[in-house]
Amino acid sequence: MSALAHEVGAINLSQGFPDFETSPVLIDLVNNAMKNGHNQYAPMAGVLALREQIAQKTEKLYGAVYNPDTEITITAGGTQAIFTAITCAIHPNDEVIIFEPAFDCYAPAIKLMGGIVKSMELEPPDYKIPWDMVRRLVNNKTRMIILNSPHNPTATILHQHDIDELSALVKNQDILILSDEVYEHLIYDGETHHSMARYPELQQRSFIVASFGKPFHATGWKVGYCMAPAFLMQEFKKVHQFLVFSVNTPIQYAVAEYLKDENTYLSLPAFFQEKRDYFRKGLEQTRFTLLPSSGSYFQSVTYNNIGNEKDSEFCLNLTKDIGVAAIPTSAFYTRGTDHHVLRFCFAKKQETLDKAVERLIKV
Ligand SMILES: Cc1ncc(COP(=O)(O)O)c(C=O)c1O
Repeated sequence: MSALAHEVGAINLSQGFPDFETSPVLIDLVNNAMKNGHNQYAPMAGVLALREQIAQKTEKLYGAVYNPDTEITITAGGTQAIFTAITCAIHPNDEVIIFEPAFDCYAPAIKLMGGIVKSMELEPPDYKIPWDMVRRLVNNKTRMIILNSPHNPTATILHQHDIDELSALVKNQDILILSDEVYEHLIYDGETHHSMARYPELQQRSFIVASFGKPFHATGWKVGYCMAPAFLMQEFKKVHQFLVFSVNTPIQYAVAEYLKDENTYLSLPAFFQEKRDYFRKGLEQTRFTLLPSSGSYFQSVTYNNIGNEKDSEFCLNLTKDIGVAAIPTSAFYTRGTDHHVLRFCFAKKQETLDKAVERLIKV
């Protein structure tokens, strides 16, 4: 959709990236790191100063103590962390439960390792996880459950009752959790981010994946990390070593320095909530029906009041005829399930959102 948006000159609210700049302070820190000679290979697990900052932040926010030496690895973005966690844990015929609509990199990595994807489809408007059905999917081949909160594409979040259900489900089972928390700081209305790190019984079986691309408006830098208990991180590093070995050095030094100011991430919910509210208010003037958006930087809508065509077709026409690109949610279901839901990204300048709404009002 981004390529098409570019081709036809549409406003691109499809792919999830900001159209505003990252902080000049952070850019200066990267420049300084380069000028100070941090331009050679970083250690395999990442720059220690950054791993220490991550450990401190995690303990402060979620109460979990991770050892920077043995339980944290810096990765080339969230995607590499996800791939590495799946690769090190999944063997042929292992079953992995994923919830769809799902971010697109989970299933291919599972299949590549010979694993079996057990997808559970969630439905709008609230995309609640039906835990009684999840229980029925679990058997002695279930090796991993992949969770993503705040969630792409639906913008839903896990709640305490999901954590309770999950805890009961995995208790006394040999099941790992891969928790994709790349949107951990993009959560609204005073809600709590239920990181797996908060719950010792879940934390001890979890790979937690995070990314600096989302919080620091720098998706192109591709630096993130994975946290896991030492016995899992040891396996993770065996793959990491030969997949990337180590990650961009100056950015790691810069982010380590930047994270010392907690306001760099604690200010994010208010920053993005303002954009969410602004965009939702604009969309209320259109014929689209808004779904809830509790986290991430996505806003989903249905178009049942407007048309009946497939969501992919609707998106193509919206991009070409109206000049606004969105993503059809069917793209996030293995079976292409179409609930007539579109996903917009609101991590955009106010003028971009204004222009998009101006056009969407005409639909
Ligand atoms: C849910 C989810 N997980 C992981 C990623 C990948 O993060 P990164 O860009 O750091 O590889 C994304 C990026 O869009 C995402 O939406």
